[in-house]
Amino acid sequence: MLHGAIIGFGEVARNGHWPAYADSREAKIVAVVDRTEERRKAARELLPGIATFATIEELASGVEVDFVDICTPPALHGEPMLDALARGWNVLCEKPLLLDLVELEKARGAAREAGRAIVPVHNWKYAPIVKRATEMLRSDTIGPLREVEIETLRIQDCAVADPDHPNWRRDPAIAGGGVLMDHGWHAIYLARHWFGEEPVEVRASLHRAALEEVEDEATLTLVFPSGQAKIFITWRADRRRNTMRLSGEEGEIAIDDDTLKVGGDSIHLERALSAGSHHADWFAAMLPDIVADFQRPERALESFNEAATCLSVIRQAYQLAS
Ligand SMILES: NC(=O)c1ccc[n+]([C@@H]2O[C@H](COP(=O)([O-])OP(=O)(O)OC[C@H]3O[C@@H](n4cnc5c(N)ncnc54)[C@H](O)[C@@H]3O)[C@@H](O)[C@H]2O)c1
Repeated sequence: MLHGAIIGFGEVARNGHWPAYADSREAKIVAVVDRTEERRKAARELLPGIATFATIEELASGVEVDFVDICTPPALHGEPMLDALARGWNVLCEKPLLLDLVELEKARGAAREAGRAIVPVHNWKYAPIVKRATEMLRSDTIGPLREVEIETLRIQDCAVADPDHPNWRRDPAIAGGGVLMDHGWHAIYLARHWFGEEPVEVRASLHRAALEEVEDEATLTLVFPSGQAKIFITWRADRRRNTMRLSGEEGEIAIDDDTLKVGGDSIHLERALSAGSHHADWFAAMLPDIVADFQRPERALESFNEAATCLSVIRQAYQLAS
């Protein structure tokens, strides 16, 4: 059983990660680090007896851990990541893994040197309906993949718990961008995962309500060697919905929130893809892979490279739109 500490006990830690650890036989949370007393108290109320700390330094002198699970806002991922690696701990980190390509390569080097893994939380790959679509694609149900369409409609950005930054998702200094950095990240790794290739060209247009604000809508085309992905992501829709379409030479797999359609058949799943924001069941499905990555750090390189692609594509999109 691996022992870990959650860094940043906000919405995703509380609602997305913690419930999955509570049921796990492979990984257990023994401590929580949060810089605010309000969130440390929330952790102690939920997890009686849990050790809580204000800093990683205090954590290191207080308990023994094998890994940290970083759930702080995006601009605050890098520092605890490098600190944890230097202490010989494995790292799990929420998306967007890092906001800067130089910092990302530095982290890659630090993990290699420490012989430890950095595992980004790319949890949409583990959504039951997405997993089924991926299995169908891999078992050649639609022939070679030629086009992917991904649409994420939201009426606003997601609420946060950070008492110091109640609106960090719209603060570029903390979020690193708007809806593209937040939700687009998931769409980009899914497209890369399905094509199994690196994109060779990026086209992008972004909408901002005002010049100084982060983008609240993004339209992206990623050209891959064997096809293309069209991505549309918005925080200004009139409803909440997720659709995805995988078109192959011999057929199509379509996801419409809770319905998977292939070859004239419709399969209805219990929960819509757009239901909720924290997805504890997806995180639970990912936990065995996380543990396996920690045990064999070279195994984590695939998802680390996915994160590198996401960041590179988003940076190109911001450059194109500036
Ligand atoms: N994969 C997903 O489906 C998914 C869903 C939601 C959020 N996320 C990601 O999870 C991360 C956290 O999002 P959230 O919605 O939980 O945010 P949040 O604001 O609710 O929580 C952040 C927590 O981090 C704490 N914190 C801030 N700086 C800190 C520091 N330096 N050291 C220790 N603690 C610190 C805050 O006090 C707060 O408790 C983000 O990167 C976000 O993009 C991912």
